[in-house]
Amino acid sequence: MKPIEELTAEEAAEELKLIAQEMAKSDIAYYQNDAPYLTDSQYDALKRRNTQIESRFPELMRQDSPSKKIGAPLQSGFAKIRHRFPMLSLGDVFSTAEVEDFIMGIKRFLNTADTPEFIAEPKIDGLSFSARYEHGIFTSGATRGDGTEGEDITQNLKTIRQLPQKIENAPEILEVRGEVYMAKSDFFALNEKYAASGKKVFANPRNAAAGSLRQLDPKITAERNLSIFVYTWGEVSQRMWSTQEDFFEHLKKWGFPTNPLNKLCKNITELKQNFEKIMELRPSLSYDIDGMVYKINSIALQERLGFLTRTPRWAIAHKFPAEQALTRINNIRIQVGRTGALTPVADLEPVNVGGVIVSHATLHNEDEIKRKDIRIGDMVIVQRAGDVIPQVVSVLPDKRPNDSQAFIFPHHCPECGAHAIREEDEAVRRCTGGLTCPAQAIERLRHFVSREAFDIEGLGAKIIEDFYQEGILKSPVDIFSLERRNRPLRQDLFAALDDGAIHLESKEGWGKKSVENLFRAINAKRNISLPRFIYALGIRQVGTATSRLIAKNYGSFSSFMHDMINKETAKLVTIDGIGGAMAKDIVEFFGESHNLYIINALLKEINVEEYIETADSNSPLSGKTIVFTGTLQNMTRAEAKAKGLSLGAKVAGSVSKNTDYVIVGADAGSKAAKAQELGIKILTEEEFMSFFA
Ligand code: IVH
Repeated sequence: MKPIEELTAEEAAEELKLIAQEMAKSDIAYYQNDAPYLTDSQYDALKRRNTQIESRFPELMRQDSPSKKIGAPLQSGFAKIRHRFPMLSLGDVFSTAEVEDFIMGIKRFLNTADTPEFIAEPKIDGLSFSARYEHGIFTSGATRGDGTEGEDITQNLKTIRQLPQKIENAPEILEVRGEVYMAKSDFFALNEKYAASGKKVFANPRNAAAGSLRQLDPKITAERNLSIFVYTWGEVSQRMWSTQEDFFEHLKKWGFPTNPLNKLCKNITELKQNFEKIMELRPSLSYDIDGMVYKINSIALQERLGFLTRTPRWAIAHKFPAEQALTRINNIRIQVGRTGALTPVADLEPVNVGGVIVSHATLHNEDEIKRKDIRIGDMVIVQRAGDVIPQVVSVLPDKRPNDSQAFIFPHHCPECGAHAIREEDEAVRRCTGGLTCPAQAIERLRHFVSREAFDIEGLGAKIIEDFYQEGILKSPVDIFSLERRNRPLRQDLFAALDDGAIHLESKEGWGKKSVENLFRAINAKRNISLPRFIYALGIRQVGTATSRLIAKNYGSFSSFMHDMINKETAKLVTIDGIGGAMAKDIVEFFGESHNLYIINALLKEINVEEYIETADSNSPLSGKTIVFTGTLQNMTRAEAKAKGLSLGAKVAGSVSKNTDYVIVGADAGSKAAKAQELGIKILTEEEFMSFFA
């Protein structure tokens, strides 16, 4: 090969063209056909040569140059993909007794004495994904996200060799869902490499898998060895299987990896034996699992059982018991949260708990410390279970130092010095400093930009804290006025005029490009969905599930705010899952003038979208109020109610003028008569069932 310095412009142009063609071909072979023909070092050598030629002849850089390709990260985070069928989670149980309760509940719901068959599957401790195939070709992939909307990780999934790019004899539309994970050996190797180059290591294989999959640059994903197991489906144009077992057979035929330990169990004894067996195997498996998933094998029964708000009624996760270890408490610190809650945290002598190094544990609250008499210097048993923050289970009093003293919980906020008080019926002590307390203000900002709220890439915890301390960001509104307040640094005579302006570019660690990226990420979020916005406000007790419920019931932010400002809670408290205490917190939030001030200022900067119903907005029952009466022939009352809810109906107990349909079974009494009197449409059980055909 000719040295770069000796190339003429013509030769350089010709070589750049050849390299671009070769690398594009190699990318297809590698990412799409699963058949790489260049070694990694050959690929890297081509890339290097391309860069060297381009830096000598920058004017010759091609539109399709490999240096412009997927190697360059997207600028403003991932695009979003709305799941056509929500990606749900599973209810957790921790004992065989609870598994028995779960099965009893199912039998009651189905009104049967027979125990249905289950498939028991190891619960992979990774990250769920959905992959869509149209006419047998992989077209897009997403993370679970909030269950309704995930991140578009199509390019990243393409780098996972175990995921087929093409499948044959499949339905026209097929979405498969499963878990992306990193094998333990790959995790250790990656961490070793990171530690050697002074980078921060990953805490566990799950975090490593998440960090590797959610890379804006799919080239990085490709370098990490990620694996998958497929275990369920989303949208399918034609379901060709009638049991979960049958589904696994189809998956295998199409070339998807399924877990070889998945097993059919006919009764609770088999489930129990299998649980013990897998728990024994667990340390020797090449990947992390945190329990077993039990799914009813028959799809017909799954469909009859349906779903609760976020979990199926036909499946459950039976989690392994928590792992424990012995260590010392070096210090007890008090953290101040977004709502002012003072949370005690134990700094521990770092200890290995089931493969993860633990150096902090939550002590929950003042009463917990008193009840367990936890003191600085104590030897304690700590445990961790799944994603839960490690906890102190018990203290070993005979190992206690002689000079140890009971811990005194502070009555002042350690961050701002304001009084910290406890309401009569509350377990937590709260700082009364409000937003004058820097800890609360910072936590509130962090919550506002967090993943399930505004999800602003580039505004991490540390940056929020720095910007707050420097007065750049004081409230969420300041995020959206940041670009207007920022000015290029002037070196000229007029520099003095800029006094007081912000110059992000000149801050340490920032440059023109990163500032532009930040503004782009912020501007990308000026349109926000209603549930995210409600959640972002940080109202006490209002998490993602409640935010979604509120959004679904009010439809728009203005109608929700109107009711809250007027202290109208009638509609709010009829929402299943929102009680009086929560309603009180919400009304109080809107009763505080500084909150209203911030909301109004925010609404000038951003647009809150109206709530769009996903799966069932087109259904004939969506938003309708229905009442059941009489004895139904083909399903239990619980089943009928669940079916109605699944199509977006509200199920009421009595007939009124607000009722849309009354579904009448055998021997119906006064409710049917009242419906007739009020002229409400009456449906037979068959007519009701036809909505589900
Ligand atoms: S089924 C509607 N099967 O566990 C049912 N989930 O806690 C959807 N998971 O979000 C899930 N292994 O990320 C299912 N064999 C398995 C699983 C599994 C791991 C994860 C998945 C899910 C979470 C729920």
